[in-house]
Amino acid sequence: MKKITVSAPGKLMLFGEHAVVYGRSCLVTAVDSRITVEIKKIDQQEVKIDAPQVKINGYQRKLSVEACLNSHKGVRFIEAAIEIFRKRYGLVNGLKIKVENGFSSNYGLGSSSAISVCIVKALAEIFSKKLGCKQIFNLAYKAVLNVQGVGSGFDVAAACWGGTLFYTTGGKKIVPLKAERLPLVIAYSGNKADTPTLIRKVQKLRLKRLNETEKIFDKIEKIVKRAKKKLQEGKWEELGELMTKNHELLVKLGVSTPKIEKLISAAFSAGAFGAKISGAGGGDCIIVLAGKEKHHLVEQALVKAGGALVPVETGAEGVRREK
Ligand code: PMV
Repeated sequence: MKKITVSAPGKLMLFGEHAVVYGRSCLVTAVDSRITVEIKKIDQQEVKIDAPQVKINGYQRKLSVEACLNSHKGVRFIEAAIEIFRKRYGLVNGLKIKVENGFSSNYGLGSSSAISVCIVKALAEIFSKKLGCKQIFNLAYKAVLNVQGVGSGFDVAAACWGGTLFYTTGGKKIVPLKAERLPLVIAYSGNKADTPTLIRKVQKLRLKRLNETEKIFDKIEKIVKRAKKKLQEGKWEELGELMTKNHELLVKLGVSTPKIEKLISAAFSAGAFGAKISGAGGGDCIIVLAGKEKHHLVEQALVKAGGALVPVETGAEGVRREK
């Protein structure tokens, strides 16, 4: 039976998180750690899934039984993507799916969106549907929303297009940027954040203090636009300063933690240009921009402060067929 392998990159939010949920824009880059999905048509009328790194071994359901989106998180995104694809194109075959994570799903590097994008792309390949990036994005984003209920879709876009993108809520604008590799150091804060919970936290704040929160979002939007320019010009020092400004606004939104602040201070003491949360906050990763000559010092300082280094490069290729 025909077998297809595809892979999609993880992502790092560079600028604009949270504000992008409310109609503003953000900058996101794809990273060179990838999720790989292998799909095979099988004779049995079943969907079988193995994703050993997230402890899914031997999951199976009959094709005639509706997929359960309450099951294990790793399965939910796969099932949601299959369901969206089935609704759009019809799907009559049994499938065997194997997922390999090139990075820990704890880091918040976008494993769920990369998996959803991989499934749509792999199904398109195996059922000979020619889908472009935007079509894959639309289907995978729907799948992610069906599972999570909230989200701007920036992570789905990064998995589809790759590179570094200027992105506006819901994919209204998706502009690939010409950018060099960013001199970033990335550190995991040691605890996994739940993105939907943090989105709801900011939502509550916005309901309570609408004007103040909207002003913060507007300031973030301005930073994103300036950062877009500096990033394309490779002006790292100025980009770092904008990162720090963006971080200060995220602190005002209440999404930082003492551990994140400790890591960020450590990065500054080691001579970083700038640093911020990357993503929803509440844990996950911080990104630090520093001159190449300072990287080693920054890395040492982050480890000393209790961070775990995440060695990824920016601007990776989007979803692609491997075999
Ligand atoms: O926590 P992450 O890396 O999934 O990033 C979430 C970013 C938000 O802006 C808070 C949500 C979104 O979907 O844009």
